[in-house]
Amino acid sequence: MDAQQTTQIVILGASGDLTSRKLLPGIFKAVRQELFPGKIQLVGVARRPWDDDLFQAHLDEHVPDQRGDEPQAWESFLKSVRYVRTHLDTDDDYKDLRQQLDDLAGERVHRVFYLAIKQDLFLPAVEGMHAHGLLNQSDGYTSRVVVEKPFGNDLHSATALNTALLNMLHEDQVYRIDHYLGKETVQNIIAFRFRNALFEPLWNNKYIETVQITVAEDIGMEGGRGGFYDSAGAMRDIMQNHLLQILSLIAMEPPASLAANDVRNEKVKVLQSLRLPEMSPDAKNHVVRGQYKGYLDEKGVDPASKTETYVAARGFIDNWRWGGVPFLLRTGKELPKRFTSVDVQFRMPPHSLFGAPNDCFLRPNNIRLRIQPHEGIDLGFEVKKPGAGLDMQVVKMDFDYDEHFEEPLVEAYQRLLQDVVNGDQSLFIRSDEVEASWRWIDSLRTVMDDTSVYTYDPQTWGPGAADQLFDECEGRWVKH
Ligand SMILES: NC(=O)c1ccc[n+]([C@@H]2O[C@H](COP(=O)([O-])OP(=O)(O)OC[C@H]3O[C@@H](n4cnc5c(N)ncnc54)[C@H](OP(=O)(O)O)[C@@H]3O)[C@@H](O)[C@H]2O)c1
Repeated sequence: MDAQQTTQIVILGASGDLTSRKLLPGIFKAVRQELFPGKIQLVGVARRPWDDDLFQAHLDEHVPDQRGDEPQAWESFLKSVRYVRTHLDTDDDYKDLRQQLDDLAGERVHRVFYLAIKQDLFLPAVEGMHAHGLLNQSDGYTSRVVVEKPFGNDLHSATALNTALLNMLHEDQVYRIDHYLGKETVQNIIAFRFRNALFEPLWNNKYIETVQITVAEDIGMEGGRGGFYDSAGAMRDIMQNHLLQILSLIAMEPPASLAANDVRNEKVKVLQSLRLPEMSPDAKNHVVRGQYKGYLDEKGVDPASKTETYVAARGFIDNWRWGGVPFLLRTGKELPKRFTSVDVQFRMPPHSLFGAPNDCFLRPNNIRLRIQPHEGIDLGFEVKKPGAGLDMQVVKMDFDYDEHFEEPLVEAYQRLLQDVVNGDQSLFIRSDEVEASWRWIDSLRTVMDDTSVYTYDPQTWGPGAADQLFDECEGRWVKH
């Protein structure tokens, strides 16, 4: 893209929570550091009868910590932001939207439309914009659409949404976002695996015994999320997207290159190789769901709800590399700590010169990828304790991003917004990935619907039954 060209970023749903908390800070930082190619014009769209001044005042009040040590830069950025009032569920409003966006641009521009709106408006918004030529691309000018999660509620709805979108847009115009992919530590999974000859030769079922992936949250329904959450649950809200995306990066084969479609080709093969839970005769023993005590009293939650606030599952990837290795996936609310990690446990050496370990849970070798917080990597191994005899002890080598790098980690949304403007889809989810994820999730849901809903006390590690997902001596859930 020519450095003189302008990209008009249009946020649909600009008066909402996502815009103030995540999108505006990300765009401001990238503008400030001149990380976007060319110039940026930012336009907010929502229903409220605001003008530019009222929208700017709203952002000034709601965007957290922007003034910082650069109040003048923030002021001048804010003054450049524009507002167009539009009812996205009203066909007649799109003609005016088109006119106003053209007038604001004043010349031919690239366009990015960010759908920061509820999912039932995704399609009407794209249809309205399509009908009025806002999604046309020609003469090298692009028009891209960023679609927030949730992308569908199951395979059927996700496929229908994909089909409808792809009737109006090319796949290379659609950016399905999962902000986890914008996290430095998630991108580092690829670098760690494929840049270090040390680990990749061991990255298979011969040496790896189990892989655990955890997304633990210590909060419940704060921020009035009860109504939305009750119709989704932990499996749809977190497992279908964040957990399975991390799993696909952990398990994929080396891509031919780092080009978006090469990476996505490998990720989708992993998702397609996940054994459908319904196929296992003992499938019910491979999933545990829970609900924290007090959930049914939360605002917006059905008092008879069976929605899971915790789910843990034992999955298998039926391919050459991973045959037989359990992937233990877990996510929950109201757990004692907030963290996301991948814990790879290696097998015992084939023969023990040092006698049997005292505790069969204690495998000496593991790698922990700390995705958040305290981003970093730990490597566990056993050493001989000083002194007479041959007593062994597990010790750890660790790497912390904070300690090693002076620059703070770039916020996920900032990175992803830069990629959209740059036209790089590597960190966005392709239609077939979404559908393969939902296929597995739907199958797991069918199995889960037949299992008990265990309750657990808030600020505990969820139902004890989840411990049974590990076979004897396979390890246990990490709790730190
Ligand atoms: N918030 C997060 O942290 C987060 C995280 C991940 C994904 N998401 C996803 O991001 C999207 C937005 O979430 P949010 O939390 O920002 O929602 P929100 O706070 O409820 O904001 C919704 C926005 O949509 C606008 N809107 C609603 N109906 C409209 C209509 N008919 N025409 C035009 N504008 C309309 C609202 O404008 P008015 O106020 O003017 O009506 C408001 O600006 C959702 O799909 C959500 O699932 C959010």
